Amino acid sequence: MKKAILFLLLVSMLALAACGSQSTSGPEGGSKNEKLVVGTDAAYAPFEYLKDGKIVGFDADLLKAVMKEAKLKYELKNTGWEPLFASLKSEQVQAGISAITINDKRKQTYDFSSPYFESINKILVKEGSPVKSVDDLKGKKVSVQNGTTGQDALEKKFGKGEANVKKYETNVLAIQALLNGEVDAVVADNTVVDEYAKNNPDKKLTVVNDKTNFESEYYGIAFPKGSENKKKIDKALQTVIDNGTYSKVYKKWFKVEPNLDALKK
Ligand code: ARG
Repeated sequence: MKKAILFLLLVSMLALAACGSQSTSGPEGGSKNEKLVVGTDAAYAPFEYLKDGKIVGFDADLLKAVMKEAKLKYELKNTGWEPLFASLKSEQVQAGISAITINDKRKQTYDFSSPYFESINKILVKEGSPVKSVDDLKGKKVSVQNGTTGQDALEKKFGKGEANVKKYETNVLAIQALLNGEVDAVVADNTVVDEYAKNNPDKKLTVVNDKTNFESEYYGIAFPKGSENKKKIDKALQTVIDNGTYSKVYKKWFKVEPNLDALKK
């Protein structure tokens, strides 16, 4: 007798739980409650990289905080860099977070959140390299990740083709080319090359800063043009910045306080 009641109780609890997991607490006013797919190229530590098969990094943590604030369900998907842009265009992904620099060229095709991180390109070379500036890269082989602002900066300086720019599918491969001696330098975002040099002292690398040739850049979350999610995510991002969550995530990854004023441009 008691057993039967317990059993009924269990069945009804399970039924309730099943219902609960389906009726997602979707955004107010929004009729859809499916997950947003957010694309990334998880080969750009410390912003996004794979650890034990999971995508981790500053971007992953920031996205988590922002989506929680926006009450949006999402799945972060490792699409790769160039496929990410194609998937945004075809709306196979609803957003992208991948240390993506907001620039005029990209703004023609995609929408962006407000800026969430300031960045600049830097040059990674082997210790003892004669390269001390972008000018010194003339006639040298330089690797970049295909389709990045590092590639744009070099092509702007040296023209397409002339600079001997070698393009790789991932930044990891671009760095590998330097380690192998295939190229003389890598151009990529400051935080990425700084961290790489610091975390791999055995590789004996030096980072070259050239503020006259490289310009300050800002990362944003990318959306297909006209996406309704931009507004919600911008609002949540601002809240996360104002309530200290952004600073917490920033300190976790970079060990210092962020300069929040740099984001208000
Ligand atoms: N910030 C640079 C750009 O937007 C490089 C970003 C590369 N990101 C990545 N996850 N591989 O072009």
